[in-house]
Amino acid sequence: MALKPIICIPDARLRLVSAPVERVDDDVRRLMDDMLETMYDAPGIGLAAIQIAVPKRIVVIDTAREGEPKNPIAFANPEIVWSSADKSVYQEGCLSIPEYYEDVERPARIRARYLDREGKSREIEADGLLATALQHEIDHLNGVLFIDHISRLKRERVWKKFVKAAKHEAEDKAHAERAERAERPRIG
Ligand code: NI
Repeated sequence: MALKPIICIPDARLRLVSAPVERVDDDVRRLMDDMLETMYDAPGIGLAAIQIAVPKRIVVIDTAREGEPKNPIAFANPEIVWSSADKSVYQEGCLSIPEYYEDVERPARIRARYLDREGKSREIEADGLLATALQHEIDHLNGVLFIDHISRLKRERVWKKFVKAAKHEAEDKAHAERAERAERPRIG
């Protein structure tokens, strides 16, 4: 298993539509394991492959609370086949939008179809946090972020903030590189 860097907005890859997995083989299982390790380390309760820059339709989730035994679930090609008319509101966050939380309304219950770690087709009925997490992660596979479900004003505000932070980071990096070059002894 290996920890992978998580990409954040405004990284354009987060807007990609991920491709279905043809079959769940050892490579896919290795990716699932890397995703779980990365998610637990973050820490988070869900992660989509595109968040570690892999545009494949794979999601991992563990909604177990602190102190409870781990309950990792890996989903390949998850698809919502039914959602309830009744909605629920949950304050969501995202590992690709650090330190930002906002209420999002989604169907309270869903049924999803997916392939498990062994490539077996399964269905899961989810409510509560699992329903929210699964919808949030399946959105990622379609290039959709939770901020797409909030008001445009709020979304533009948070997006701009991250664009600015990314710009500053790039400038700092360039500055550090220039400083390092200047310190190098000149020969000749
Ligand atoms: Ni997310």
